[in-house]
Amino acid sequence: MACSKCAAHFMIITEPATAISRVSWDTERGGILPAAAEQFSLAFDMQQALVGAAVFEGVPLPAELHDATAGRRLHFLAGRFCAMGALRRLDPGRPPTTVGRTERGAPIWPSGVVGSITHTDGFVSAAVARADEARSLGIDSERIVNSEQARRVSTHVSWPSELMHGRQAGLDRLQSITLVFSAKEAIFKCLYPLIGAMFYYHDVRIEGIEAATRMFRARLVKTLSSEFPAGMLVEGRFDLSESLVHTGVWLAVC
Ligand SMILES: CC(C)(COP(=O)(O)OP(=O)(O)OC[C@H]1O[C@@H](n2cnc3c(N)ncnc32)[C@H](O)[C@@H]1OP(=O)(O)O)[C@@H](O)C(=O)NCCC(=O)NCCS
Repeated sequence: MACSKCAAHFMIITEPATAISRVSWDTERGGILPAAAEQFSLAFDMQQALVGAAVFEGVPLPAELHDATAGRRLHFLAGRFCAMGALRRLDPGRPPTTVGRTERGAPIWPSGVVGSITHTDGFVSAAVARADEARSLGIDSERIVNSEQARRVSTHVSWPSELMHGRQAGLDRLQSITLVFSAKEAIFKCLYPLIGAMFYYHDVRIEGIEAATRMFRARLVKTLSSEFPAGMLVEGRFDLSESLVHTGVWLAVC
């Protein structure tokens, strides 16, 4: 569905079949987050979007991003636009709220809400949930890497065994590398707000990827905090389109 406000430059994704907008853990086709999450996504052509970016007027840009490239500013504003859309879906009665940014770059959600933002070339999304349903969540979307990018990221990001899990699930090499990368970014965005410290790609190991359920399983290689010790299992979901990989991690309230 095209958004009338967006002068046809932006496409608001509303179809559950894409598994990106209103996602559900339970349906046959599934989604990347449980149904308690609200997700709002925009797909757009970068060049046209730069022309049509006036649609984000009124979304505040933090001072530290004033000198950023036009693409970075566009992605930031589109991410906040999606965040506001997702918050509206979660609580239609909530007055419009801006989503701040910590020094380390994590979004600052309104009290009682957890969430996550992702952007990649031509696709932006935000997901939120009530804090009494989820302790935290993380989403990530990545354009499937090309061979050159794969060479650059694969050793930096992955263990050889992780790529093997992707291949065993029927993914090709480039999809596998992108999925491992994206899954680790989603895990990072989910856990960072609870840990408050950096951790890196080799601190987490993907140890299972299942095509039928589109689930991945990862294990912490290193202790990240007393609550997140080495050996702990983290599960998430993924979805693949022709050019994008989407991943989601949800930490339920026990
Ligand atoms: C933060 C990071 C994960 C973002 O990933 P990315 O692929 O570059 O970018 P994405 O577009 O998908 O996500 C960017 C969004 O992540 C969110 N984000 C940034 N830092 C974050 C943090 N510390 N915690 C949670 N979310 C964060 C922000 O909302 C950001 O968008 P914004 O700046 O427009 O608000 C990445 O830059 C990074 O620092 N990676 C190193 C740490 C890591 O990934 N470790 C792997 C552990 S297994």
